[in-house]
Amino acid sequence: MATESARVKEEKLAEKLAKGGKVETLEEMTDEYREHLTHLMMMQADSELAGAFGYVPWIAKSPDIKETLQVAQIVKDEVRHARVMYRLLEGMGVDVDEYYKKHNFNLRVESSDIGTERVADDKRVNIFYYPIETWYDFIMFNFCMDRGAGHQLEDSLHCSYKPWCDAMDGIFKEEAMHMAHGDQWTKKLSENAKTHGELQTALDKWYPRTMNIFGRANSPKNKIYRKLGLKSRDNDEVRQAFAKEVAQKCSEFGLGVPKWTPEEKKMTEEPFIPG
Ligand SMILES: [Fe+2]
Ligand SMILES: [Fe+2]
Repeated sequence: MATESARVKEEKLAEKLAKGGKVETLEEMTDEYREHLTHLMMMQADSELAGAFGYVPWIAKSPDIKETLQVAQIVKDEVRHARVMYRLLEGMGVDVDEYYKKHNFNLRVESSDIGTERVADDKRVNIFYYPIETWYDFIMFNFCMDRGAGHQLEDSLHCSYKPWCDAMDGIFKEEAMHMAHGDQWTKKLSENAKTHGELQTALDKWYPRTMNIFGRANSPKNKIYRKLGLKSRDNDEVRQAFAKEVAQKCSEFGLGVPKWTPEEKKMTEEPFIPG
């Protein structure tokens, strides 16, 4: 039998997506779908792994033994998320072993503001190039980035690629636990007059970095993702949902919401994913 023409495939896929159907096999994918899906999943996988590696020193540097276990658990979760995502990518034909050998997921930058630049050719979201230098950074990473990732990943949880949705189910629950860890510590550090100021300083640093991960409003790429069912909201809609939640938490904890001005040059056209 002759191979199905690209056009027929495209029509079938569009019909399926219009009905809210899910893609489950490579055979159903058009080249466009496969390319964008691979890219988005690669961004998530690389971010999960770089995130895990950034946390590693805090297993030993945490404030107490209870936290050592907590951080080790978070590292294990992130490595698991990366592994699950890379396994899906293997199924899409990516040579993950080769890719893993070629990239340095431990790489970090010294600059305090790299805008949206990627400093290496892995696909991590650029916030994962910043080092976590203090326990306040660690907590604010949980508070801001895990929360931002949660908002962003909500779309993947209901996306058109079934194996990704299934994987996201477990990942999402674990990310919620990381965020809860951030919230508990944020409450604790904000209530203490001795730690409140330093916590606010860390928030002022990580909040704008997180606001920059969502990508530009009305981005053409986001429109393609939405057409393919790989996203369901505009970048700015996701960012506003995140900002609203942070504002609520800040008023609860007596923290000031840091200033953030949308600077086009500081935003990627496409958003990242996770934490
Ligand atoms: Fe994760
Ligand atoms: Fe996380």
